[in-house]
Amino acid sequence: MTVISRRVFFRGMVGVFAASALAACSTQTPPRGYDGDTRPLPVPELYESTLDDAGTRHFTLKAQPGSAEILPDVRTETWGFNGGFLGPTLRAHRGDHVRVDIANELDTMTTVHWHGMKLPAWADGGPHSPIEPGGAWSPEWEIIQPAATLWYHPHPHGETGLHCYRGLAGMIILDDEVSESVALPSEYGVDDVPLVILDAKFTGDGQLDESIDPDLGLIGDTPVVNGITNAHFDAATRRVRFRVLDGATMRFYNLAFSDHRPFHVVGTDQGLLETPVQVEYVLMGPGERVEIVVDLEPGEDVRLQSQPLDGNFGLPEDNPVDFGFQDAFDLLTIHGPSDDAPAPGPLPQELDPAAAAVPERANAVEREFVLNTFQINGRSMDMSRVDVTVDRDRPEIWRVTNENADWPHNFHIHDCRFKVLEFDNNHVAQVATYGWKDTVAIPPRGAVTLGVEFGWYPDPSVPYMFHCHMLFHEDSGMMGQFVIVEQGQEADLKPMSGGGSIHDHA
Ligand code: C2O
Ligand code: CU
Ligand code: CU
Repeated sequence: MTVISRRVFFRGMVGVFAASALAACSTQTPPRGYDGDTRPLPVPELYESTLDDAGTRHFTLKAQPGSAEILPDVRTETWGFNGGFLGPTLRAHRGDHVRVDIANELDTMTTVHWHGMKLPAWADGGPHSPIEPGGAWSPEWEIIQPAATLWYHPHPHGETGLHCYRGLAGMIILDDEVSESVALPSEYGVDDVPLVILDAKFTGDGQLDESIDPDLGLIGDTPVVNGITNAHFDAATRRVRFRVLDGATMRFYNLAFSDHRPFHVVGTDQGLLETPVQVEYVLMGPGERVEIVVDLEPGEDVRLQSQPLDGNFGLPEDNPVDFGFQDAFDLLTIHGPSDDAPAPGPLPQELDPAAAAVPERANAVEREFVLNTFQINGRSMDMSRVDVTVDRDRPEIWRVTNENADWPHNFHIHDCRFKVLEFDNNHVAQVATYGWKDTVAIPPRGAVTLGVEFGWYPDPSVPYMFHCHMLFHEDSGMMGQFVIVEQGQEADLKPMSGGGSIHDHA
């Protein structure tokens, strides 16, 4: 079975880079694209937005077909925003009013969702906001949340995995007074570097292999970082911050350095932590972001890798489906700076004091969500059904249980940030518990209790989504809908104007 052989194969890879007991297998060949010279890490272009007289920050995105040299010297057909593959980094400030004019130049319907953003449901870009081929859509909203690293990607029901896999993904950086005053590396592309990690599998002639594994959908066997395989980054400074996005459809990455050096987590999905957390590895699942800071010695070489995860995330060692927790990959080779790069000062111990806040539990509405195979609470996604109605502007407690004994899930909620208040059956030290999140990995037979703070935009007519962000699970029906309404009001879904102009909401 190919799944098994992949595990054996990549386990062997660890031996190549780490002097471990696995070195015996070090004759295994690396994944395609990782067997030759490294290439310089591309940095997604930072979008130069314009401010109009009314103070609105404008962005224009075009979803389009194209191609990219993901593998050296091979042209692979892909999709991208404003280019052949992936999309520019959008940057905005807390308090900004933003507007994005999106054109769909693909030959199929898509949507664009702002993952991690608090915003009105009509602007959220979920499955109810189709942009037909040749069509356009112009959501606008106000940035009301703290600084964070978010991302944007399509969300057409049943097709999200495929659209993301082909390359429709980009990063969003939100700034605020706190993030601007904290002494963290902050020069985009220099010492504050986005890493958009996808995975791919290739056909013999180097095209994206879109065959669906019955258990793992479009999971790839080759990591792709900022659009290419086998990248290297030439650091100019001795301290670098990486904003890492797991944009893969199904793959978890256990981030660590080849020499197991300690590094610091400074931010999670929804922004800066109260204080840096020192770790030797960080597990990320599909959809999650983490901001890490690593110190480098002049002239050294070190690799950012995904390393095998101790405990296999609670999956049996001989699980019939291999979710890849034991795989090992190089993600990025980092060359240290030159000798004259100044030594960094101490890392600030205070990042965002406000991040310590914990949502209130007293008098909160408590809800139960049971994840099992492709369903939530025994139901598959139905675009005409409202599963949850939120009618009070205060935190809610969502208890989410993974009933599967042999599958992980990665639960995501739109229009909110949450804190993990409890974590049962915790098989690994979870970055999830360090700070504010919007997506959380739940091991087999595990459960999380989330204190959820929604963005308050009452609208009975358009739903937001909650779902597993392992996109094959989501596309197979593991998703539900909620509306936010005024107290006592009821949900009343109305079709949105597809492919159209601005939805008519005040
Ligand atoms: Cu990243 Cu419902 O999405
Ligand atoms: Cu989302
Ligand atoms: Cu899942």
